[in-house]
Amino acid sequence: MADLKKEIERRRTFAIISHPDAGKTTLTEKLLLYGGAIQQAGSVKGKATARHAVSDWMELEKQRGISITSSVMLFEYEGFCVNILDTPGHQDFSEDTYRTLMAADSAVMVIDAAKGIEPQTRKLFKICAMRNIPIFTFINKLDRDARSPYDLMEELENEFGIGTYPMNWPIGSGIDFKGVYDRENKQILAFNEFHRGQSKIRAIECSLDDTDMLNELIGDKLRSTLCDDVELLDGAGYEFDLDKVRCGKLSPVFFGSALNNFGIEPFLESFLKMTMPPLPRLAGDEVVDPFDDSFSAFVFKIQANMNKAHRDRIAFMRICSGRFERDKEYFHMQGGKPLRLAQPQQLMASDRAVIDEAFAGDIIGVFDPGIFSIGDTICEKSKKLTFEGIPTFAPEHFAAVERTDTMKRKQFEKGIQQIAQEGAIQIFHEPFTGVEEVIVGVVGVLQFEVLEYRLKSEYGVDVRRRSLPYETIRWIDNEEIDVSSLNLTSDTKWVQDFKGNNLLLFSSGWTVNWALNKNPDLRLSEFNRE
Ligand code: G4P
Repeated sequence: MADLKKEIERRRTFAIISHPDAGKTTLTEKLLLYGGAIQQAGSVKGKATARHAVSDWMELEKQRGISITSSVMLFEYEGFCVNILDTPGHQDFSEDTYRTLMAADSAVMVIDAAKGIEPQTRKLFKICAMRNIPIFTFINKLDRDARSPYDLMEELENEFGIGTYPMNWPIGSGIDFKGVYDRENKQILAFNEFHRGQSKIRAIECSLDDTDMLNELIGDKLRSTLCDDVELLDGAGYEFDLDKVRCGKLSPVFFGSALNNFGIEPFLESFLKMTMPPLPRLAGDEVVDPFDDSFSAFVFKIQANMNKAHRDRIAFMRICSGRFERDKEYFHMQGGKPLRLAQPQQLMASDRAVIDEAFAGDIIGVFDPGIFSIGDTICEKSKKLTFEGIPTFAPEHFAAVERTDTMKRKQFEKGIQQIAQEGAIQIFHEPFTGVEEVIVGVVGVLQFEVLEYRLKSEYGVDVRRRSLPYETIRWIDNEEIDVSSLNLTSDTKWVQDFKGNNLLLFSSGWTVNWALNKNPDLRLSEFNRE
């Protein structure tokens, strides 16, 4: 049996985040290529080709050519066992991304060098900052005209309130892009040919003092700019501090071009050295040490329909401590029952492999007969614990949904509840009114389409959807309050979620303020940690 400590120490589990189109998929693909997990570029996503993305599980996703679902990929690189958590590219699925980030120990943020920080990057950064996880920045597309690297770094520092440390420095951009200067090794990695495709790019190494060779490689003008830049950087007080990197206060910045394979390998190598093995996690007051012998994990994602022929549902869990063994009996805390996890599997690019064991830091997918919810804990029977829940974010769009066929009540209820359990939608109802309509809340409107599509294709139910004019929903934090006697505007609606929590639906920020002003005891919250 593999050595527990050694195995856990070599695990690196991170998420890749970006605003759509910055190059997340391309970077992921290139990382997998270096890890030998795929043989050919284009296997992760082929928008324009017949090949489907590794993560293209949903038909809808294939039809639309967007990356909706997020997936997990595992590969070995120089002794490290790397778990990459891919996050959905589409902004309407940002909630899925938030949850995925809960399972990661660090994040790689991909930024388009011409655009800098974009709205989605901003949102995702906030989540990483909430957990203080290390953030590594990859500034991509240097082969295109880019903004000044100084500007980009300043923007990161000002907007995110963190320090940055350029690990390398670009030499020109666009048609003038000549490569990067590696600050640690004091070497030039020259970008000397357009290098799409699968093979590794060969960097030409040359020191800053070798004026002749530099002139030949990048020309006199860029050489002199580079020497000035390097002098400025070295003197500018950008100090590297690994402890600050590891608590998310300092982001190492790399420049490169994912599409051209440029800068990927040095990035991967230095990233793997700087990131940490699995971090301890909180379960109530208890700090769970990943190296602890006993197994524990939590569910961060539930994915239906990974295999259309079987209408299966896979629960993805992040192992937080110990070793997972196939066929061993574990305990499902929320279900209050012992269980054996069926068909445990890991994803290796396009393959799913059934596994016998896995370790803290790993992500495994198990067959879910409909018993798991997002945030559930699975642990040893002899050492019970419950991990902190994954916050549910307040949905921003609401609709009343009802079935058109009166005969299909059971299928409708089952379908909508299962889809809600997966966390794709949130469902509410009006208490004590007898109204049968289900109120569905989503973070992004595309989720409504996914809901309708799935209800029809998986449960055979047609539905009617009516948009509701609410903009804001808030959980009522004080359990003791009598909701029916609250002083609220007539267009504020009281609803409950399927766990019986009380919430209020508001049509505007103004009505939220009214509720808080007229009911001084009322406490409202934007997310729910159950
Ligand atoms: P995403 O997952 O963050 O949404 O981005 P993705 O990797 O799909 O990249 C978005 C577009 O940017 C793609 O082009 C991709 O080829 C291109 N791209 C990625 N990295 C680089 C780079 O380093 N340099 C340049 N010039 N382009 C880059 P597309 O035309 O939208 O799609 P495709 O037809 O190439 O797949």
